[in-house]
Amino acid sequence: MAEVIIVESKDAAGALVAEEIAALVAAKPTAVLGLATGSTPLPVYRALAERRDSMDLSKITGFALDEYVGLPVEHPESYRSVINREVVEPLGLDPDRIHVPNGSLETIEHAGADYEAAIEAAGGIDLQILGIGTTGHIGFNEPGSSFASRTRVKTLTEQTRRDNARFFDSEDDVPMHCITQGLGTIHRARHLVLLAFGEGKAPAIAGAVEGPVTASLPGSALQLHERATVIVDEAAASQLKNADYYRHSYANKPTWQGL
Ligand code: F6R
Repeated sequence: MAEVIIVESKDAAGALVAEEIAALVAAKPTAVLGLATGSTPLPVYRALAERRDSMDLSKITGFALDEYVGLPVEHPESYRSVINREVVEPLGLDPDRIHVPNGSLETIEHAGADYEAAIEAAGGIDLQILGIGTTGHIGFNEPGSSFASRTRVKTLTEQTRRDNARFFDSEDDVPMHCITQGLGTIHRARHLVLLAFGEGKAPAIAGAVEGPVTASLPGSALQLHERATVIVDEAAASQLKNADYYRHSYANKPTWQGL
C-alpha cells in the first residue's frame, strides 16, 4: 500500500516534498522529475523556489503529466505556460530540459509515442508529483483508463471540465480533450508522490488508498506501485478509515527512510 502522511497544512506538505527532491538531486544531479500542474503542487514549487540557491537544478530534466489538446501553447492556461510560470521561471530551470506533451492538433497522432520515447531516452522518471481529481483521475486518466495505458489523447469528463473552469473564463472554454501520461507511464516512475488538500478530495483519496484497485478510480493504481507516498491535509484525510494507523506509523518512521 501507499504510505500515507497526514500534514497540518499545504505548506508543510510542500516543505516535505521539496526536501525529498533536494535530497534526490543532491544524490543524482541528473534526476528526472515528473511535474503535475493544477493548484495542488504549487506549495511544492514554492518551497523549492525558496531553497533554489542551495540546490543545483541545472542538470535535472522534467516531464509534465499532461496538456490540453488544441489550446495554443501561448494561452496562459496551456500546461506549457503554467509549467513555465510556476516551475521553470521560479526555479531557474533550463526550459529545453522541461518537457510537456505536445497538444498541437497537427502532430497529435504521434505526440503520445514521441513523449514516451523522450521519457525513456531520459532514463525514466525518478520522482513523479501527482494531484488527484474529484473523479479520482491522476494525470488526466479519467475513470475507466487502462492500468497499462501510455501517453495518449483522452476526453475529459464533464466533472473535470467543471472543476477546471476556474482557470478559464467559462466551462465552455475548457478544452474537451487532453494528452496525458498513461497509468502505465506513471507506474514506471520510481517514486510516486501524490498530494491532496481539502474536503473535496476526501472521497477520491479514501477510494484511491483504501478502496478496491479499480480502473473506475484511477488513483487506486497507486496501490500497485512499490513506492508510493500520499501526502494529505486533515480535510483530505477525513474519510480514511485507517488514519490513526497512518499517524502512528509516520510518528514512528525510521529516520533513515526519507519520504
Ligand atoms: C494536472 C493533473 C491533474 C490534477 C488534478 C487535480 O497535471 O494531471 O490530475 O492534478 O486534476 O487538480 P488540482 O490540483 O487543480 O485540484
